[in-house]
Amino acid sequence: MKFVFSILIALFIVACSSGSGSKEPASSTPTSSPSATTKKASSNPAGEKLFKMKCAACHKPDKKLIGPPLKGVLAEHWDNNKADLYLYVRNWQDANDKGIARAVEIEDYDPSVMTPFPELTDAQLDDIFDYIEKY
Ligand code: HEC
Repeated sequence: MKFVFSILIALFIVACSSGSGSKEPASSTPTSSPSATTKKASSNPAGEKLFKMKCAACHKPDKKLIGPPLKGVLAEHWDNNKADLYLYVRNWQDANDKGIARAVEIEDYDPSVMTPFPELTDAQLDDIFDYIEKY
């Protein structure tokens, strides 16, 4: 009988400690959410990943690096002509040969040349530029 009683006490202690333990995540939730809002969440994780993999060595969305900043270029420099812009990113030389004005104009921006990215699909480029525009 004494043995059963001590088991009951043990169970009671476990129940109490797990009860108070379960309060902790609830009280820590409000403190973790402000830090989640201060940390900038990516608006387009797929685009961010591609941008970092393929473009970030030479571009920042909002600042000059080796290449020019890219935020707003579609509207400002490419007349919202996605086909021309995407042709340029896939192979700037093709865009030059086609006589696309901005491609010719930007050619001498930097002595280094931009890598061609023929493998990027429209959907991937949509993601990259969506990420850039929301940066
Ligand atoms: C090796 C460096 C390099 C990489 C990598 C690179 N770029 Fe560029 N990019 C340049 C340079 C340099 C220019 C400016 C043109 C020049 O000097 O040839 C440029 C120009 C551009 C322009 C024209 C900007 C304007 O003002 O019209 C766009 C758009 C662009 N890059 C997009 C991209 C994207 C998207 C990626 C990734 C998929 C990328 N670039 C990767 C170097 C790079």
